[in-house]
Formats: sequence, C-alpha cells, structure tokens
Amino acid sequence: MKSLIFLFLFVPSLAFAAAPTQKSATLPEALTVEEGRALYQEHGCVHCHGEQGRGDGPVAKGLDNKPRNFQDYEEMKRMPTIRMEQAIKNGLQDTAMPAFKNFSDSQVNALIAYVRSFLVKSYTTLSMCAFQTYSINAKNIKAPFSVELDEPDNYSVEIKGNTIFFKGKVWPELLAKKTRRTHFRVLNKGKIHTVVSVKINRCDADLIELLKTLPCEKPSSETSAEVHP
Ligand code: HEC
Repeated sequence: MKSLIFLFLFVPSLAFAAAPTQKSATLPEALTVEEGRALYQEHGCVHCHGEQGRGDGPVAKGLDNKPRNFQDYEEMKRMPTIRMEQAIKNGLQDTAMPAFKNFSDSQVNALIAYVRSFLVKSYTTLSMCAFQTYSINAKNIKAPFSVELDEPDNYSVEIKGNTIFFKGKVWPELLAKKTRRTHFRVLNKGKIHTVVSVKINRCDADLIELLKTLPCEKPSSETSAEVHP
C-alpha cells in the first residue's frame, strides 16, 4: 500500500519532468554571399573549385584528388560546417587543398556561406529526441514550398500554413541507435531552398522518464489471474 501511495504521488511529477514532446525552430534567413564570393575569387579558390563550385576549375584538371561538386546534394548534405572550417584553415592533408591561415573567423564563415550557396539559399542543423516532433517555422521561405525527406520510410512531415512538422513515423523504431542523422530539403519553384540536417538522439534519461508516464495496457482477465506458486 505504501508503495502505491508513493507511485501516486510521484507519477504526475515525473510526467512533468519528462522532456517536452515538441520542439520548435525557425528556418534561417538566406545566406549572405557577397563577401564570400569576393574572397573566393581573390584568393584563388575559383581556380580549383570552379566558377560554379563544381570542382572543375582549370587547376583541378591536373589534380589526382579532385575537389567535390559543391552543387551536389548527396555530397553536400553530409558536409558539416566544422569540416569546411577546418579544411579552409588547416588545408587537407594529401590533397591539393591549401591551408589559408590568415583568414579571420568571419572571413572563413563568409567563404563557407558562399560554398553552401552553390546548392542552397540556406542550411541549418537541428537536434531532437526520437520521441519529439519538431515544428519549424518556414516564414523565411516564399510559399508555396514543399518538403522532400531523405528517408520517407522512417520520418514524416506535415505542412500547415508556413509551419513544417517533422517527426519519426513510429518513434519507438528510432530507438535502436543512440544517435542518427537524416536530412530533408525544403523546395520552392523546383529548387532546393534549404537543406536541414537533423540529428536524432535517443535521449536516454528523458526517454526513461517518458516511458514511466505512458499508459500501460491493462492485462486481460486471463493473464491477470493470480498465480499461486
Ligand atoms: C589548389 C587547389 C585548391 C585551391 C586553391 C582551393 N582548394 Fe579547396 N579543395 C581542393 C581539393 C582538391 C579539395 C578536396 C579534398 C578532398 O576531399 O579530397 C578541397 C576541399 C575543400 C573543402 C572541403 C570540402 C571537402 O571536399 O572535404 C572546402 C570547404 C574548400 N576546399 C574550400 C576552399 C576555399 C574556400 C578555397 C579558397 C579560399 C579553396 N578551397 C581553395 C583544392 C583547392
């Protein structure tokens, strides 16, 4: 009886302690590209990476390890900002990519924005728990827009007005891994406007709290029969 009272007192507060099942974000404004474009030309990026970022500059022809195509969705969706930052600042070993030690952080950021802009108008990363729904305000994108998921079998998306609701289709199926990553594209006029890279975490501590608050199925009368050993 004592333990029952204990449960009764604590379950509501546990429900309150569990992570919220909804998160929200706003898609970023379009990238600013002017400064990056100028740096890209002045510092010779263009000679290897090409006018359109396709990796087809005149110097690239002679390279064994060619620069990738910055316009390719499959190549670029998985390209974290930190990797680009390190490539520009430190160069890439065993490739022709030189280290540009003298750029300030803001110049590096301007170059990264320009490199991204070959494919998209904006790029963002989100992080959520497997059991959450992300509501994403897309007010920065002109309607009508559509969303294309990389993994429509695992995730679902719903658009209401200018809000995108993104979640796992059956969230318990996402629990097999501690973290996973997926991407989706927001398109308008047939072009990719924004690439969203989503990290999905199992969020173990919050998950355990959440599980405690879920209603349990009542055992049927057959199985609930008391067993006397
Ligand atoms: C001499 C040729 C050359 C020049 C000049 C050059 N790059 Fe590169 N860059 C490369 C090559 C080759 C790679 C690809 C290395 C790989 O991944 O195999 C690369 C990779 C990169 C990457 C990382 C993406 C990746 O493929 O992993 C970024 C970002 C980048 N370059 C930006 C720039 C910027 C910005 C400039 C100018 C400030 C610049 N590069 C100048 C040859 C060049």
